[in-house]
Amino acid sequence: MNTIDWKNLPFGYFKTDYNVRCYYKDGKWGEPEVTDSENITMHMAATCLHYGQEAFEGMKAFTGKDGKIRIFRLEENAKRMIKSAKGVMMAEVPVELFSEVVLKAVKLNLKYVPPYGEGASLYIRPLLIGTGAQVGVKAAKEYLFMVFVGPVGPYFKEGFNPVKMQIVRDYDRAAPLGTGHIKVGGNYAASLRAGERAHADGFASCIFLDAKEKKYIDEAGPANFFGIKNNTYITPDSSSILPSITNMSLRVLAAEMGLKVEKRQVPVEELEEFEEVGACGTAAVISPICMIHDRDTGKQYKYCKNGQPGTISQKLYNKLKGIQEGLEPDTHGWITIVE
Ligand code: PLP
Ligand code: COI
Repeated sequence: MNTIDWKNLPFGYFKTDYNVRCYYKDGKWGEPEVTDSENITMHMAATCLHYGQEAFEGMKAFTGKDGKIRIFRLEENAKRMIKSAKGVMMAEVPVELFSEVVLKAVKLNLKYVPPYGEGASLYIRPLLIGTGAQVGVKAAKEYLFMVFVGPVGPYFKEGFNPVKMQIVRDYDRAAPLGTGHIKVGGNYAASLRAGERAHADGFASCIFLDAKEKKYIDEAGPANFFGIKNNTYITPDSSSILPSITNMSLRVLAAEMGLKVEKRQVPVEELEEFEEVGACGTAAVISPICMIHDRDTGKQYKYCKNGQPGTISQKLYNKLKGIQEGLEPDTHGWITIVE
């Protein structure tokens, strides 16, 4: 293996040595299998290809200052994949099997876990797909659950430096009673046009509004949105956003830091009032937002004095990272140590 330039890793695919797969057939899951192949062979009528029967997860493992490798919120990701599976009628991966396969995939690729202090982490990507053949719109009878991993750097090239985002009204990522609340591929397909246009226009991401009324902030591209004002952490409540596990954790940390926490609809006009705003997620971690441009009204909302992240965002970031890297105690049982 050539030496890896940990500090300059992008957020992207990185070939490692092994991935782990498990097949569901005849109503039950088989034993996890290890492979070094990057390819999947499947039936051309597999439901994941035609009818979007697929879901994925995203989590990270970190090397701590003490040299231990910590996975953040493994169980919560397993539970969310069960919700996604239910949502598109796939076989559910039990929490124990999910954990076993994730741990196996990490342990088989230990040399790809970035060392402490390099600003990188090991991204863990579980994937569940319908592999059984159907031509009518029906759920498959066979599934593949697999996990691959790879070292990554920050999702937004800015890292913890503030990013710019663009509000869109002419595309929706998810319908109010659709699949926005689960992690299925179709939501990401639906977000591509608005996302790519935002990039082309010079923004890190787009911000979707609620699909029904276009009055409220929904999802910040591949991350949740939060705003801070009057010592309060505020994040949208909506049936079409993914319940971010990072956001869930930040709400707990914010409350422990003495902030009030509100999960409620966030009207676009409230952007005027926030002292700090940001996007949060596994890939995005906390990405402070320095400017939001409304492409319909031309209005610009500006944050981050002197281009610096706000003090509360910085404190939340430090605390979260501290727990992930073992510098802060894991008082909530969020960490799985890879033994
Ligand atoms: N929203 C969307 C659409 C996402 O893809 C993600 C990433 O997983 C998030 C939010 C953040 O969720 P989490 O913090 O669980 O990674
Ligand atoms: C994550 O934050 O884990 C994501 O899944 C975001 C994106 C890469 C889809």
